[in-house]
Formats: sequence, C-alpha cells, structure tokens
Amino acid sequence: MKVNGKHHRTIWPDTNNPQIIHIIDQRHLPHRFVVEDLKTVADFAAAIRDMHVRGAGLIGATAGFGMYCAMVHAPGEKISAHLQSSADTLLSTRPTAKNLSWAVQRQLDAINQEETKEAKTKKAFETACQIADEDADFCKCIGEHGLEVISAISKEKNGEPVNILTHCNAGWLAFVDYGSATSPIYAAHRAGIKVHVWVDETRPWLQGAKLTAWELKEESVPHTLIADNTGGHLMQHGLVDLVIVGTDRTTRSGDVANKIGTYLKALAARDNTIPFYVALPSSTFDWQISDGLKEIPIEQRSAEEVTIISGLTENGELEKVLVPPANTPAANYGFDVTPARLITGLITERGVTAANEEAILTLFPEHR
Ligand code: MRU
Repeated sequence: MKVNGKHHRTIWPDTNNPQIIHIIDQRHLPHRFVVEDLKTVADFAAAIRDMHVRGAGLIGATAGFGMYCAMVHAPGEKISAHLQSSADTLLSTRPTAKNLSWAVQRQLDAINQEETKEAKTKKAFETACQIADEDADFCKCIGEHGLEVISAISKEKNGEPVNILTHCNAGWLAFVDYGSATSPIYAAHRAGIKVHVWVDETRPWLQGAKLTAWELKEESVPHTLIADNTGGHLMQHGLVDLVIVGTDRTTRSGDVANKIGTYLKALAARDNTIPFYVALPSSTFDWQISDGLKEIPIEQRSAEEVTIISGLTENGELEKVLVPPANTPAANYGFDVTPARLITGLITERGVTAANEEAILTLFPEHR
C-alpha cells in the first residue's frame, strides 16, 4: 500500500544482501517512518515481542523470515537442535496469534525436506518469501470477496456512504500488504463506492489511532477517529452500517480472538441488528480447537502499556507521559474472544462463509 504515494510492504529482504530483512518499525508511526534491519534471531524475536511489527499476518511473515535467519546462522552440525531452539525463541514472543506457530511449523517442515545446509538455507529463504507473498495475495482476495458485502449495502443505501466500524489495526500494517478488515474497504474505495470508516482508537496500544488512521489517510479513505466506547452510541443512532474486524486466532467452529474490546462491539452490533464480519486469511484458523473461550491463549502484556501513553509534543518530539497516579495497578489483556454466534460471516481468501464448523469446512474441506 502507499506511503507518500509510494508502494510499500511491511517486510522485505534487502535487495543486495537478502540476509538482512527490513521492517517498518511501527512503534514510531504515525509521526516517524522508520525502517529497521533485522539480522539475528534475537532481533526477530524482539521485533515481534516488543511490537515493532504486530498484527497476525505480519507476525507470521516475520517469524517466517526469522526461521530463515536461524538457518543462515545454523552451525554445520546439529542443525535440527539449533532450529528447534530458534523456533522456541520465536514462539515464546506472542501467544495468541496463530500465524506465528503456523509460519514456524511451515518453515520447519520445508527445511526438513532438504539434506545439506546450503539447500536448507535456500529452501528457508524461498519459504519465507512464499509466506509473505501468499499473505499479500490472500489479503487481496479477502478484499475482492469483502467488496461484495460492501457493494450490496451501498446499493441498499442508493450510493450513500457505507459507514464501516473497525477495531484495532487489521490493515496492511498488520499483514504484508492490503490487510484483512481494511482490504474490502480499500477495494470498495478504489471501485468508486462511497465509504466512511469509524476508527476505534483501541486502547491501550492505540493501534486504531496510530496505525489505522494513518493508513486510511495515506489511501485517502474518509474516516473518523472515535474513542473506544463510542461504537454502541453510533450503532443505536443508525450511523454504522457494517462492522469489519480482523482476528489473531479463529477456531474451526468460528469463535474469534481479536484485539481486546472486539467482543463488546459484537454485542452492540447484535443488539442493533448490524452485520458483524471478521476478515482472515486461512493461516489464522486454528484447526485443532473448537472452543475459543476455553482454548485460545490470551496474551497479557505489561501494565505500562495501560498507564503510559506516548505522542507528539508541540515541539515535534515524541514523548511518553504517565496518566494515572504513580504505581496504579493495571491489567493489560491483549485480546478477547467473540463467540461464533455473534458473527455474521467470515471473509476469507476463498470467499465469505457463515461462522460455524460445517460452513467453514465446506470452504476448507482439506481440514475435515
Ligand atoms: O496486538 P496487535 O496489534 O498485534 O493486535 C492486532 C489485532 O488485534 C488485529 O486486529 C489482529 O491481528 C487481526 S488482523 C491481523
């Protein structure tokens, strides 16, 4: 997607030295556009854990390149043990996003097919690039399928703007390109359909205020930033036509873990008969589990992310400030689970499906 009119992905290998992987360090957005170089497995783990990169798809793509980096630095002997310990380091960074373990396992399976260190390294690079390319392709397809949902509502409204509420950042910054929840919005905007996006600020990390608002601005999509608790009021007053969010892990029965606060939006949408869609590539499904509430691990992060916020001062400096009284205890749950019964549909790369096991497996029969 575009930054200052120029196309960017969120992660890419250096053209001259592909052992160096570039990422956009999202901690500095929207005020600074900083590109960081990742060169060791420790760099990759820190980038995921400390949210230089974040969002399900991008966490997966970063882990894919992280495993390539592990292979580059593997010793001549005991390659398997080295790879497993690198995999464990990457897997320990963030527990909720399924794409992380999916990408690591895909790399281990691919690398294991080869015999020599040279062949394994080549395979690891190809697989990392495939994971990234596939993520971008799948997100593009999600846009095409989700466009039909938006287009139908636009027709019902006789071309009046379709008001879409989204939570957190499930945009191109959360993937390699296009995004999941925002991909249909970009597709609709490009097709000339009038859309307007309500952007939840998304406390505590403010992915909506910092990232989604920036993305939409760069793509000239009309949007309005709202405090997290505003959505219910807007829905009650007919100002939301559709909710589209992303997900970090979705069970085979359609329960969805997404950024904390998503469940409350789903409840409000149901109370106001507003369609609530979740957009995801199939890499986000956890085919092993059915009960999202019982089986999806929910990440808890540091209290400081709740008590301290950062922003731009009048002097153009990025500064952190403490909001509550010093030493106030704070809890920071990263995600919540929205039960399948509250979800109108899942927008995947293969099409839109109802959020129940039978419908999901009809679209993905290889997981029956
Ligand atoms: O903590 P984050 O910023 O990684 O959380 C991101 C989200 O919750 C997104 O909505 C989610 O990853 C789904 S779309 C990639």
